[in-house]
Amino acid sequence: MNKLDALAALRGRFPVLEPGHVWLAGAGPGDPGLLTLDALAGLAQADVIVHDALVDQRVLALAGSQAELEYAGKRGGRPSAQQADISRRLVELARANRRVLRLKGGDPCMFGRGGEEAIALAEAGVPYRIIPGVTAGLAALSAASIPATIRGVNHAIIFATGHADPDFDWAALARTGQPIVIYMAMRNVEQIVEALARGGLAPGTPAAVIVAATMPEQRIVISRLDRLADEVRKIGFTLPGLIVVGEIVRVRDRLLRLLADAEAAR
Ligand SMILES: C[S@@+](CC[C@H](N)C(=O)[O-])C[C@H]1O[C@@H](n2cnc3c(N)ncnc32)[C@H](O)[C@@H]1O
Repeated sequence: MNKLDALAALRGRFPVLEPGHVWLAGAGPGDPGLLTLDALAGLAQADVIVHDALVDQRVLALAGSQAELEYAGKRGGRPSAQQADISRRLVELARANRRVLRLKGGDPCMFGRGGEEAIALAEAGVPYRIIPGVTAGLAALSAASIPATIRGVNHAIIFATGHADPDFDWAALARTGQPIVIYMAMRNVEQIVEALARGGLAPGTPAAVIVAATMPEQRIVISRLDRLADEVRKIGFTLPGLIVVGEIVRVRDRLLRLLADAEAAR
């Protein structure tokens, strides 16, 4: 059975990527098991795949044999593509009547500039579709057995970027008392921790660093707010990582203890 027959068996009629159309799709955090069926349909049909650095090689390996891969990433020691150039390239490929899959790590619109690309495509009159993906923040929490929300612990969860402008009000986030998952936080961790502490978070607030979630190199370090910067320094900056701050982090211990007790009782 080929990929498209397999998809049809799983999904009924799978969506068709038409020539001259662009799909802005999320590739998830790494593990191909977290890819959506529609992103897989895009991989199978696209004749050009414009992908970011954080798209896992195991996902790219699912591309059809007709597909050309174009790298448009902003990491990995290669020259950085400018956002305006990427948007222009998507329009150019669509106008050349190609079937274009724009594949981004996680969800395309969560700190992924998918929104800007959608605007550029819409302005150019190019038909496009957004296919959501499993964002790294949620995948990292699951990988670490930290529930995103749990009754009695939190009523909200905040996703933030550590690349926010210098005037960003971290203290206001801290004052909500709700857990915060911070993408792109590794390099600015010291300033972020200081700002959260100024907002009233206690030094002992539970915190975690999760690196390469769902990838073979995955690492989970459970710590506390005042030790986060040291933990990040020890881990280094080569792999994508994020930090989590808040009471939900404590639930991991409880879950692991329950599992260990159940195992011992067997
Ligand atoms: C430009 S943002 C893109 C986020 C992506 N659109 C998403 O929804 O996950 C890149 C940041 O996402 C986080 N990230 C992406 N993949 C990750 C992973 N597998 N494990 C941990 N963090 C990850 C890191 O903070 C990284 O610096």
